[in-house]
Amino acid sequence: MKLRAWVLFLASISFRNALGVRQRTPKAKIACVGDSLTAGYPFDSGRGPDASVSGYPYHLQELLADEGYEVRNFGKGETTVVSGSKSYRSGWYNETWQEALRWKPDRVLLMFGANDVKESRLKKFENEFEDAFTQLIQSFLDLDPPPVLALLIPPPMYDNNIYGPEFDPPGRAGGMQQKVYNQQLPLKLQELAERMQVSLIDLHECFLKHESCTDVAVNCCDWEAPKPPKRRARPHAAVQQCAAHDDAIHPNDEGYRNIALMVQRAMDGKDVC
Ligand SMILES: *[C@@H]1O[C@H](CO)[C@@H](O)[C@H](O)[C@H]1NC(C)=O
Repeated sequence: MKLRAWVLFLASISFRNALGVRQRTPKAKIACVGDSLTAGYPFDSGRGPDASVSGYPYHLQELLADEGYEVRNFGKGETTVVSGSKSYRSGWYNETWQEALRWKPDRVLLMFGANDVKESRLKKFENEFEDAFTQLIQSFLDLDPPPVLALLIPPPMYDNNIYGPEFDPPGRAGGMQQKVYNQQLPLKLQELAERMQVSLIDLHECFLKHESCTDVAVNCCDWEAPKPPKRRARPHAAVQQCAAHDDAIHPNDEGYRNIALMVQRAMDGKDVC
């Protein structure tokens, strides 16, 4: 049913194109909502840090422009689902969230979780994540008409305890926990998607199928980012690291391009990977 909704939507667009009424048809709007993995950090593409030329939303726009879509990037780094000063409900993200709602998207892609698995937020991740995410999803489904909505399972993390206090600037909520992110988060998102009857796009699985990205104990995934400029090297690297790919969580521009392809394939009802 979820997949069918995506396919029917695409079919309706093609049908209108065939009738030659595309000029008068307003563009279908896709809102990409999330944290730095949506915003496009670490902006290594050479196109600059502007949201409109960053992350997977930029590539999705490139792929879908001729099909009558407008893609907008509502990503903001550090945003959490659970409560706190960086919550989507806090002053940190609220305005971006409200703007996304006011835009009245036809489709919404939601990708969160990285900042919810930081050490000091694990209790909240356990206790609050699903309820808070449900409310975020519901806020979009309450739009009239309700958009077609998909949750994205983010790509794997290739190291443990990253972006913690030893980083520059220090991550005050502690390091991101690899096992929770790679194992518990996908399960929670799957349950959530089933319960809310929305689509699920598993980027995590697709990364694990890509040759250099199969082993989360080896940080050599060539779809992942080089060391972001402001982060100094981790002193604790317990995993085998590749010099050029040591961020361990953010995709690089090629990774973001492949995420856009995965999303496009999901929209077309094809195998996502
Ligand atoms: C979020 O934005 C809405 C709409 O602008 C506003 O009514 C609400 O008070 C804001 N909440 C916070 C926590 O800033």
